[in-house]
Amino acid sequence: MPGYELIGRKEKKAVSKLFDEGGVLFAHGFEKQRKKFHVREFEESIRTFFKTKHALAVSSGTAAIKIALLSLGVKPGDEVITQAFNFIATIEAIRDVGAKPIICNIDETLNMDVNDLRKRITKKTKVIIPVHMLGMSAKIDEICSVAKKNKIYVLEDNCESVGAKIDNRFLGTLGHVGILSLDFGKIITAGEGGVILSNSKRIEKFCREYHDHGHENNPAYTRGNDTRRIYGFNYRMTEVQAVIAKVQLSKLNFIIKENSKRFKILEKNLSNKVKQRYYLSESRPIYDCFIFFVEQKSLRLKIIKILQDKKFGTKNIPDALKWHCAYYWDHALDKNEYLRSKKTMEILKQAISIPILLKKSLKDYKLLIRNINRVISS
Ligand SMILES: Cc1ncc(COP(=O)(O)O)c(C=O)c1O
Repeated sequence: MPGYELIGRKEKKAVSKLFDEGGVLFAHGFEKQRKKFHVREFEESIRTFFKTKHALAVSSGTAAIKIALLSLGVKPGDEVITQAFNFIATIEAIRDVGAKPIICNIDETLNMDVNDLRKRITKKTKVIIPVHMLGMSAKIDEICSVAKKNKIYVLEDNCESVGAKIDNRFLGTLGHVGILSLDFGKIITAGEGGVILSNSKRIEKFCREYHDHGHENNPAYTRGNDTRRIYGFNYRMTEVQAVIAKVQLSKLNFIIKENSKRFKILEKNLSNKVKQRYYLSESRPIYDCFIFFVEQKSLRLKIIKILQDKKFGTKNIPDALKWHCAYYWDHALDKNEYLRSKKTMEILKQAISIPILLKKSLKDYKLLIRNINRVISS
C-alpha cells in the first residue's frame, strides 16, 4: 500500500507541532526561533533504520539520483547503464549530468538481466543503476560483482522498494550509493522527497554540499559566512516534509506486514495456469503489488476489467506502462537504446499488476482472486 493510505492524525499533529515550535520551515539556521531541526532528525532516523553510516534527505528521488551520479564523478561522455523497466526519472538524471543512458533488458525478476548487463559494458561505462522495481529485489549481488570486476560504480535506485531486503540486508545499502523516494505514490511518503544512503564519507560530503548550494555547514562559522569548495544547487528537503517523513517511517514495518498478508492470499491462490513474477527466495519484498502474466490478450482484458470494476485498478502495469518502459522513450534515448528494450516491452505487455491496498480487506482479496481464477478457468 502506498503511505498516503495511512496519512492522517499523526502526520497532522506533527505538522501542527512544527508551527507551535516556532514554524521554521527551513532546514538550517534560525536557531533563536526554533526548538528542533527536523530534517536532521529524519536523517538520523533513516540512517539508523537502514544501518548505513550516512543518510542525506533531499527534495526528491530524481534529485537524489542526479546528486549521487555527480558524487561518483559522472561527466559528459560517460555511459551509465540502467534497465528498461524503470521510471523515466533515472534516464532524466543521467541525461541531466551530461552522460549517456544505456538500456539493459530485464529478466524473470522484472529487474536488470545480468547477462544483458555484461554485454552493455564498454570502456565508457562509469555507473550501473539497477532499479528494484515494484517492491522486489534485482539480482543485486551478481550485479555488484560484475561491477566490481569491471571497476564500475553501482548506484541502487531503490525508490520503489523502500524497506525491502535481501538476506536480511536492506536494498539501497548494497551498492556504492543508494537512493530512496518519498513521493506520493511510494510506500512511505512526504508528498515529495528523497534520500541518499551511503557508507562513504567522500560521497556523503559531496552530496551534502552539492544539494545545499555548496554550503559546508562549517561549525566555526555562521551560515552567512560559511566556507565552500564546490558549487552546488538547491535540492534541500523542508522541515514540513521531514516531520511527515518521520511519522511515515515509523509506519513502514506495519505497512509491509499488512501488505504481505494481502499479497500472500494472491500468491497462494492464483490459478497455476498463469505464471507469477519470480522473486529471489532470499529476498523480502515490500509486497506492494502482485504481478502475474497472461499471454492471451482477450483474457488479459477480462481480468483488467474485473480489477477496474472492483475498484482495485492496476498499479502501473498496464495503465502507466508508457512511463515505465524505455521502449516508449524515443524523446529521451538514442534509437539503439529504446529499440533494444522491445524485449522488455514484450514481457511487460503480458503483465498485470494488482495493487496491494490497506483500504481493501483480506476478504476483498480472497473474493478478487476467486473472480480472477473463474475467468482464467472459463
Ligand atoms: C524507479 C524510480 N526512480 C526514480 C523515481 C523518482 O522519484 P521522485 O518521484 O521522488 O522524484 C521514481 C518515482 O516514481 C521511481 O519509481
